[in-house]
Amino acid sequence: MARIIGGLGTSHVPAIGAASDHGKTRDDYWAPLFAGYAPAREWIRRVDPDVAIIVYNDHATAFSLQLIPTFGLGMGDEFPPADEGYGPRQVPMVRGDAELSWHLAESLVINDEIDITFVNDLHVDHGLTVPLTIMCDRPDEWPFKVIPLAVNVIQYPQPTGHRCLELGRAIRRAVDSYPEDLKVLVVGTGGMSHQLQGERAGLINREFDLAYLDRLVSDPDAQAAVPHVDYLRQAGSEGLELIMWLVMRGALGGDVREVYRHYHVPASNTAAGLIVLEPTA
Ligand code: DHB
Ligand code: FE
Repeated sequence: MARIIGGLGTSHVPAIGAASDHGKTRDDYWAPLFAGYAPAREWIRRVDPDVAIIVYNDHATAFSLQLIPTFGLGMGDEFPPADEGYGPRQVPMVRGDAELSWHLAESLVINDEIDITFVNDLHVDHGLTVPLTIMCDRPDEWPFKVIPLAVNVIQYPQPTGHRCLELGRAIRRAVDSYPEDLKVLVVGTGGMSHQLQGERAGLINREFDLAYLDRLVSDPDAQAAVPHVDYLRQAGSEGLELIMWLVMRGALGGDVREVYRHYHVPASNTAAGLIVLEPTA
């Protein structure tokens, strides 16, 4: 049977990908951030997942204002890194697992009555490829298959935190009922506090971010009840990306063990966070 072996939450700041792509990870600015990724990479190597379900948001790259799925599931066997305006990142092709994608779709739509958009042709932007770099550095091939799960955190009205947590719980049921013997990692991406525009551009709120991580671990239902306007006020206009970590947390079940945490400011205009969790049951 397939099983969820762990969860990882991480920011997906594009400049982190660029720092890796241009060999700058040992520069003074980037070294402390990348040093903090080493234990997470070591954990990934140790637990050695077969597949990662990566919960991310597209930044008007694959989806435009013409089509905005609330939840879009990548169904293909390949997801090319997207061209976001300066050519695709020179990173490996992202390989999917179409059979598991269709099982997830069937279980989510039929058993849990959660509507999902099926995305057969999907080019994945920094929201997904930067977390792969953070987790795996620069391999010739990514060491596991990837199922992208795109969440609309951009266009009002975005799904609630509660919806995201429940989606994660439904993903757990779907994985548990998959007959193949697979180790599945669930990754939540985005955040932490950041605002890229307007008068408050550059806003960082360390207190909010650390409290978010604490509650993600110990009381996800309380975190899921936080209204979006609170994220907007306290974590900046793009801080709402953090609701995607709740999908990951829901997939881990009740109690979790916190394996590792890393928090660093600044990464570009953004507070960069990472957490590694293991299910206890
Ligand atoms: C930036 C972009 C993002 O999508 C994000 O989540 C954080 C930072 C940026 O352009 O700096
Ligand atoms: Fe983003």
